[in-house]
Amino acid sequence: MQSNDPSSAPCPCSIIGTGSYLPERIMTNEDMSKIVDTSDEWITSRTGIKERRIAGPEQATSDLATNAALKAMEAAGVTAADIELIIVATVTPDMFFPSTACFVQKKLGATNAVCFDISAACSGFLYAMTVARQFLNSGSRKTALVIGAEKLSSLINWTDRNTCVLFGDGAGAVVMQRSDEPNPPGRVLSAVMGSDGSLTDLLKVPGGASACPITADNVGLRPNTIHMEGRETFKHAVTRMCQASEQALAIAGKTAADIDMVIPHQANARIISVIADRLGVPEEKTFINLHKYGNTSAATIPVALDEAHRSGRIKRGDVLLLVAFGGGFTWASSVMVW
Ligand code: COA
Repeated sequence: MQSNDPSSAPCPCSIIGTGSYLPERIMTNEDMSKIVDTSDEWITSRTGIKERRIAGPEQATSDLATNAALKAMEAAGVTAADIELIIVATVTPDMFFPSTACFVQKKLGATNAVCFDISAACSGFLYAMTVARQFLNSGSRKTALVIGAEKLSSLINWTDRNTCVLFGDGAGAVVMQRSDEPNPPGRVLSAVMGSDGSLTDLLKVPGGASACPITADNVGLRPNTIHMEGRETFKHAVTRMCQASEQALAIAGKTAADIDMVIPHQANARIISVIADRLGVPEEKTFINLHKYGNTSAATIPVALDEAHRSGRIKRGDVLLLVAFGGGFTWASSVMVW
């Protein structure tokens, strides 16, 4: 059920550039209250979300991903020809196949890359980073593009107030590279991952794939939208994110007192607050942007990392704790030196 990355010792690969892209269209809580029976007061007090971004009908997940990737590549100073691996974490792929990563490859012209997607819901980006590290540490690839990208608006049941107010669209990307330095900036010190497939029912998109194809008979039930048991998910999220954080800190040889910034999955401000409290990290050391974007699943952590970096909230040498939880259930945590 729980697996620790065996190569968690300090490794000579690191994040050398970050980028993010959020669609222009803003949907506020006020806008939501015109669609379903809800209010800005309820959404803000229960989740911390004030608004979210919604992609245009002409934009697929790979378009959001490509925009974020271009910014990360510019920041890293690498070209499309340098990229040897593209991993996209997403639950909203452009199509069942080809993979979204292959569409990103085409849009970037990254002809030297091997490309595939990872499905681990909101933990997807940290899963993808860990997979990329294995390629880089093994010496099989030098430069990787790791992306978390979602067009969750395509999976939302806009008549279900329990879920439709929570999610948004966006993408974040990092360029990871094997380094010749023993301790490069942006290095990952530890990676913890876990899954519990006995709880698949609590958070899922039940229809639209092989278990329940969309038919003329079931289309009205909207099986191809997000179904979530919110309260149960909340409890598991808090427990698993705290455990994973403590494990990632222990493997890295750090304590909560060493943390300069927690970059948590952005699902609910109350979850983040409880985790900070339990870990003993002051709230000002937690990065929050979910008031602007809602829950963008695999995109939340790379978007937050990019914003924290570009805004100066994190600086070189800072110790970061990244932690996520999502459908599956899945969870993951990493400690980094920025
Ligand atoms: N507006 C107004 N009322 C709403 C509402 C909305 N958008 N959504 C739900 N409600 C109502 C419910 O119908 C319920 O009413 P009732 O008591 O009359 O039945 C009441 O608010 C409380 O619902 P509940 O689901 O218990 O609220 P909650 O405090 O648990 O908050 C979530 C709901 C979804 C915000 C919260 O459970 C959550 O964040 N869960 C975890 C999500 C998460 O971590 N995801 C991570 C993986 S992506």
